[in-house]
Amino acid sequence: MSAALKQSAGGFRRMTEQDLPAVIGIEQRSYQFPWTRNIFRDCLRHGHSAWVLETDQDIIGYGVMSVLVQECHILNLCIDPDHRGQGKGRQLLEEMLIIARVNEADSAFLEVRTSNFQALSLYLSEGFREIGTRRNYYPAQLGREDAVILAKRL
Ligand SMILES: CC(C)(COP(=O)(O)OP(=O)(O)OC[C@H]1O[C@@H](n2cnc3c(N)ncnc32)[C@H](O)[C@@H]1OP(=O)(O)O)[C@@H](O)C(=O)NCCC(=O)NCCS
Repeated sequence: MSAALKQSAGGFRRMTEQDLPAVIGIEQRSYQFPWTRNIFRDCLRHGHSAWVLETDQDIIGYGVMSVLVQECHILNLCIDPDHRGQGKGRQLLEEMLIIARVNEADSAFLEVRTSNFQALSLYLSEGFREIGTRRNYYPAQLGREDAVILAKRL
């Protein structure tokens, strides 16, 4: 494993199963339809690339992606609501894209709810471009919600 994969500056490191209580706490405060503990555990056990961002005391964000056959798929990216608006989401995304490049990905993909303007704004400002829509992709309070598919050349 390269040095860049093991550790990078700024409290960014690989997620472990010991991190899951903190990660799930943030997940539940962040999403109406949060991932379960089993989903996170499966991601770790199936070798997805999972990372946390932390201060001296606490985990304040995390991201999960798969990197396969030169494609990176960002599956989750989340910052603790108490730490948003301070550049942490951008830092986490940029760190993860560095890892994806180290793993020889040449493009990154993700889906985001059409209503999630904070995330859309972040991704568009980081060079992602809209390449399509998945109709009724997400559960919603009333029915289903479309996903915007975004992609970026790395
Ligand atoms: C999306 C998310 C990760 C952004 O994290 P953050 O730490 O608040 O973001 P940053 O402070 O790094 O801001 C980065 C950019 O995001 C966008 N953004 C962040 N907060 C925003 C807000 N309240 N309104 C509009 N745009 C916003 C802006 O483009 C911002 O860039 P700018 O500061 O140059 O304007 C965070 O809102 C979050 O965890 N949301 C819940 C989980 C989620 O929806 N994840 C995305 C799933 S695909």
